[in-house]
Amino acid sequence: MISTKGIILAGGSGTRLYPASLILSKQLQLVYDKPMIYYPLSTLMLSGIREILIISTERDIPFFQKLLGDGSHLGLSIQYAIQEKPHGIAEAFIIGESFIKGNQVSLILGDNILYGKLDFFRNSLNDNLGASIFGYEVNNPEEFGVVELSKDGKILSIEEKPLIAKSNLAITGLYIFDHNVVMYAKALKPSKRGELEITDIQRIYLEENKLSCRVMGRGIAWLDTGTPENLLEAGMFIHSIEKRQGRKIACLEEIALFNGFVSIQDYEENLKKIPECNYKKYCKMVLKEFKELKELA
Ligand code: DAU
Repeated sequence: MISTKGIILAGGSGTRLYPASLILSKQLQLVYDKPMIYYPLSTLMLSGIREILIISTERDIPFFQKLLGDGSHLGLSIQYAIQEKPHGIAEAFIIGESFIKGNQVSLILGDNILYGKLDFFRNSLNDNLGASIFGYEVNNPEEFGVVELSKDGKILSIEEKPLIAKSNLAITGLYIFDHNVVMYAKALKPSKRGELEITDIQRIYLEENKLSCRVMGRGIAWLDTGTPENLLEAGMFIHSIEKRQGRKIACLEEIALFNGFVSIQDYEENLKKIPECNYKKYCKMVLKEFKELKELA
């Protein structure tokens, strides 16, 4: 398997979440029982990505550091970088140049929550030939980047928030690029709204015939978190499933253990640092389960 580095872009001003955005990054707000960034981080971890760069504002980086540290307790390597101003999503590749260092990279927006089987993503990590994007059917495509596909799955067009969308396939905030993305990002000119647009990068790969798109399918939930209403709905979604199954979504410790990123000893050490709470109770239950499985094997 090709090794892929991961970038989580978690900056921006989050103005639609005012007044909470005055004091706390959007990607640190609670989505039911854990900070939002746990969800995109879990998507990367579940796909085997362990070297991660978190990009955020100067104000918020210390909070992310407090939350996730250097990632070693999760068997990860997490680095941090500042984006001075929200100059656009594609700036992540310029900021992350020395981190990417010639590798394939997956970018996930820190406010994108995915729930469901991630095979589509793992497959793309393995067969990506330039850049890969993921389409998701929505009833409000005009609010997103939109991809138009031919009947045989060829990409016909890519547009950022078009007035009239040519399809109802939104481009989700999960992307894979080869190392050339840094060079392309550096050559970009800001759009009319003054941003380095991620869709402009996708268009470059499309012109080079190196962009592919997989449609996620209805078995995946892709949730919005931009407004207080979206945030509440996403929280209720997570709550419903966790309550029904008795299993947590995006429990990073659980993923690290089951993916073999940490040993049982590391996990137990880390557990000692978690205060008594439901989250700890769950982590203990996971450990018990893991040990039982090991004994069976
Ligand atoms: O969520 C998927 C959509 O994300 C795509 O369909 C669009 O093509 C893509 O442009 C983007 O659209 P958004 O309207 O959601 O972009 P927004 O400006 O809200 O930024 C998305 C997240 O990235 C947001 O949580 C803040 C963060 N961000 C954004 C920019 C522009 C940064 O950290 N830095 C930035 O410079």
